[in-house]
Amino acid sequence: MRYLGGKSRLMRHIGPILQSEIDKNGICEYIEPFVGGCGSMDRIRCGRRVGLDGNPYLITFWEELLSGYVPPDCISEDEYNNYKRKIKRGDFSTDRLEAAAIGFAGIACAFSGSWYAGYSKADGRNRCAEAKRAVLKQLDKLSEVEFIYADYKKSHEYLTRRAVIYLDPPYATVPNLYQGSNIKYDPKEFWEYALFLSTLGHIVYVSEYTSPDDPRIACVWSKDVKVCAHQISTKKRVERLYKVNGVAYN
Ligand SMILES: C[S@@+](CC[C@H](N)C(=O)[O-])C[C@H]1O[C@@H](n2cnc3c(N)ncnc32)[C@H](O)[C@@H]1O
Repeated sequence: MRYLGGKSRLMRHIGPILQSEIDKNGICEYIEPFVGGCGSMDRIRCGRRVGLDGNPYLITFWEELLSGYVPPDCISEDEYNNYKRKIKRGDFSTDRLEAAAIGFAGIACAFSGSWYAGYSKADGRNRCAEAKRAVLKQLDKLSEVEFIYADYKKSHEYLTRRAVIYLDPPYATVPNLYQGSNIKYDPKEFWEYALFLSTLGHIVYVSEYTSPDDPRIACVWSKDVKVCAHQISTKKRVERLYKVNGVAYN
């Protein structure tokens, strides 16, 4: 499913790096603290896989999808706007299937897969049906993933042993881009937490454009990419993968 900032297109590069860490170190746990649209999660094979996100509707959508929820073929603009109003009122739906539909619509029908950014009706395509087909394709590769609505800073609490951790946070240049997450994200605190995770002995990787100048953070892969800034213009960026290697506490 198309998701703003999703890594599905980059996973043919990043995926093998993460997978080889899992395989060569005999790792049985893998966690993504910013799981989003599962564009990266669905490429990784590991005994236990955990995905966290600060968007409760998105997490409910993935949980329900794994339990048999089938997304609709079509969501009208009126339905989409009703869902949007519900979220604005702040009443998280206790009806799990409705919450799942809200999570799906907020991405599937939205411009650029950006959370309720505007109902996408460009070129007469049925975005909803396209997204439905895409998530049903992803489904096979997500079986038994544990989805958790939580702050990324709680990630270590969900691990039981040494893990590979892939952090794909909001870019520091646009930290408030993910309006669906109702948990604050501060890029400055982020790197401290990534270093903390590595001091616990975990194998930690981060996707970002830039990092602090710190000898414990090394860029291990990069690629020039074009990002859509507006409907009409694109900007060039360098997408980077960093390995974070803190010194363990005694
Ligand atoms: C770049 S996207 C992740 C994309 C994902 N790797 C993919 O391929 O689909 C960043 C995600 O971080 C989530 N997020 C933002 N702040 C968060 C927080 N404090 N804790 C957990 N997740 C958060 C957003 O809801 C969004 O889904």
